[in-house]
Amino acid sequence: MSESFGAMPEVRELPEPTPGDGEVKIEVQTSSLNGYDAKLAGGFLAGELEHQFPVVLGRDFAGIVTEVGPGVRGFMPGEKVFGVVAKPGLGDGSFGEYVVVPEEMGLAPLPAGVDYRCAGVLGLAGIAALASVDAIGPGHGETLLISGATGGVGHYAVQLAAARGATVIATAEAGPAADLLHELGAAHTVDHRADLAAQVRQLAPDGVDGAIHLAGDPETVADLVTPGGRFASTVGVDAEQLGDRELNVSTVEAIPDRIVLDHIATEAAADRLRPSIARTYLLDEVPQAFTDFNNSGTVGKLAVAIGSAG
Ligand SMILES: NC(=O)c1ccc[n+]([C@@H]2O[C@H](COP(=O)([O-])OP(=O)(O)OC[C@H]3O[C@@H](n4cnc5c(N)ncnc54)[C@H](OP(=O)(O)O)[C@@H]3O)[C@@H](O)[C@H]2O)c1
Repeated sequence: MSESFGAMPEVRELPEPTPGDGEVKIEVQTSSLNGYDAKLAGGFLAGELEHQFPVVLGRDFAGIVTEVGPGVRGFMPGEKVFGVVAKPGLGDGSFGEYVVVPEEMGLAPLPAGVDYRCAGVLGLAGIAALASVDAIGPGHGETLLISGATGGVGHYAVQLAAARGATVIATAEAGPAADLLHELGAAHTVDHRADLAAQVRQLAPDGVDGAIHLAGDPETVADLVTPGGRFASTVGVDAEQLGDRELNVSTVEAIPDRIVLDHIATEAAADRLRPSIARTYLLDEVPQAFTDFNNSGTVGKLAVAIGSAG
């Protein structure tokens, strides 16, 4: 949890949450860090969202339903579930033994074949990847640049886009990061620490058909898209910011409704969406996980194992 804007996260005892009307209480088994958690912990969302301190950090969860509030129809105690905490305002999070979420948003059953370890790292990054790839709608054989491909969202987006037949150009340093992205379906990797534009132009001299922007300079990425192409950003970049470039720009906002959660769970169950977990932390180690997340070089997800089954 975090006690004030930008304070170092710490582990602390808090009262167990109780489910209200339409809410479901879950014993969390696994969770993971997202860019969102890092921004929240760093105080970067101050003034943008209502904060109720202490703020319990964490958006992703997988676990078991222990209690349901009045009016809940779709879930029962004992059921295995996963999802994304998506409540208005900030206060409740999933880096704890229990989390309470509304039945109607951010919650889905865990399908057979998907374990807690996988489901706990799937939520926010998975739905953001799906929303980004859907926003671009890459056709078979189209070239797609993914900037930020080594991160949680990025490594899922590579897999989803490659499965649709796109030729994916992914940002990654040569070595293990690039090797992993090739394994996940990237046709080419380009190193964002070097001259990105020159490397992409060598592969796609007329520009790429689309770009998913998860990190890096948005204008550099947008300039690599062929006129009339598509550009999707998860970091709030909109058409106005990209000036009079001839691009179809989507500002992605990932909403964890039941349809998208079921979709990513189905992809995971079919082994078409495979999380790469760089490291797993215990709950006590979450402050260290934040430090590691903010250092560059992590590929894929940082997981948090919380329950005995996690
Ligand atoms: N709008 C939404 O609904 C939504 C949902 C989910 C996430 N997001 C946002 O999407 C972004 C990505 O999320 P995430 O969880 O995947 O974060 P992440 O795991 O930190 O991934 C970001 C990746 O970008 C890489 N990177 C850093 N600088 C780069 C550059 N100049 N060019 C290319 N790659 C670069 C980082 O690698 P190195 O540092 O090792 O280079 C890292 O692997 C975050 O800003 C997050 O807040 C938005």
